[in-house]
Amino acid sequence: MPKLAIVGYGKMGRLIDQLAPEYGLEVSARVDVDRNESIDGADVAIEFSVPSAVLGNIQKAAALGIPIVIGTTAWSEHLAEARVLIEANKSALVWSPNFSVGVNVFTRLVSEAARLLANEKEYGAWAWEIHHSTKKDAPSGTLLQLVDRMKAAGYARNIDASSNRAGAHPGTHEIGFDSPADTITLRHTARSREGFARGALKAAQWIIGREGFYEFSDVLFGG
Ligand SMILES: NC(=O)c1ccc[n+]([C@@H]2O[C@H](COP(=O)([O-])OP(=O)(O)OC[C@H]3O[C@@H](n4cnc5c(N)ncnc54)[C@H](OP(=O)(O)O)[C@@H]3O)[C@@H](O)[C@H]2O)c1
Repeated sequence: MPKLAIVGYGKMGRLIDQLAPEYGLEVSARVDVDRNESIDGADVAIEFSVPSAVLGNIQKAAALGIPIVIGTTAWSEHLAEARVLIEANKSALVWSPNFSVGVNVFTRLVSEAARLLANEKEYGAWAWEIHHSTKKDAPSGTLLQLVDRMKAAGYARNIDASSNRAGAHPGTHEIGFDSPADTITLRHTARSREGFARGALKAAQWIIGREGFYEFSDVLFGG
């Protein structure tokens, strides 16, 4: 059975621990601020911690040749550095601000809507999300990625973005287009954190034995 190191043992780390056996993975290390177990000997690592810890965790895994799945959000300014680390060590990484299969499909639908409306100047756009009150970053990494994808699809006008933090909500993302004639609303609602954990575990199975720097969309849609 391949061995899995869980790096960051908070809400996501603990859920991944519960679900790992369903994916044929044996948890060999659980790492957190006050739990310093060695990841050496693991076949793959899954990381859900804090933005300031991500690059150091990638460095440790890459130096040991352990492929790593990064679920932590709000570290995108270090992506280029992370890629260099992975390539220099001939290691492997999969990252995504959102490991839900549904959100990755939703992102493609949003890109296509943005592409189709890019030249329809009467349509303005908004982007909105809500998450539980303990989420540290706002806007969410997923919302930032949705806005980036809309721009990459050719939608060059303003996209008015906003966030709410309240209660225990696992995450809703909404993209809308509004014109004098009508409104289009595209919305994804997560029911629990389980979809994120299952996606990260799917990515962990996929990255074992590979080399390179990937996004979860590569795992789902083949690049
Ligand atoms: N990509 C996705 O699909 C997805 C889904 C859900 C969440 N997330 C993201 O994943 C991250 C974690 O979310 P969560 O809900 O699990 O948060 P959480 O419950 O706060 O867990 C984060 C854990 O990481 C620990 N940690 C801090 N520094 C560390 C280090 N240097 N090494 C290892 N662990 C460290 C924290 O310890 P302390 O509490 O002692 O600081 C905490 O136990 C966030 O960035 C969140 O936005 C992503």
